[in-house]
Amino acid sequence: MKYVIVYWSRFGNNRKIAVHLETLLKPKGEVITLVAADSVKLPQADVYVFSAAAERFSIQEDMKKLMSGLRGMDGKKYVLINTHALGFKNWLGRMNKLLAKSGLTKLAETDFRVGEGTKEGNGLPQGWEKKLEEFANRI
Ligand SMILES: Cc1cc2nc3c(=O)[nH]c(=O)nc-3n(C[C@H](O)[C@H](O)[C@H](O)COP(=O)(O)O)c2cc1C
Repeated sequence: MKYVIVYWSRFGNNRKIAVHLETLLKPKGEVITLVAADSVKLPQADVYVFSAAAERFSIQEDMKKLMSGLRGMDGKKYVLINTHALGFKNWLGRMNKLLAKSGLTKLAETDFRVGEGTKEGNGLPQGWEKKLEEFANRI
């Protein structure tokens, strides 16, 4: 299995998720981890993981642009991870819509509420590693 993890992270929380997920997926196959940016061209893979923060009542802008521009990826799968503030809704619904024209098929999705320590990259909730491990088993 070949995985591409694409993430966007302002404070480091999504980076932590991406780095840990890469370790968890490595025994299952090849994993490439990339930061979402305008210029990024996604390599071929079986499964694409998109992990990004909610910002300004949507998905962070760079990730939004990247996801909404994807086309012709029929036969491949996608996985979503969203981090968002305590007391706010997740943006998984928006992420699904952004991929509507990509041709990708959904495999799984999850979210993490970030709290105290977010700006230092330490805002993920207690037990996030275990939650991510269980999630990784499904993808
Ligand atoms: C400019 C800005 C806008 C944000 N807007 C939202 C928002 O609309 N909804 C929400 O749930 N969280 C919002 N947040 C919180 C981010 O989702 C949180 O900082 C992020 O998930 C942390 O992940 P990161 O360290 O990977 O960037 C915002 C944060 C920033 C810096």
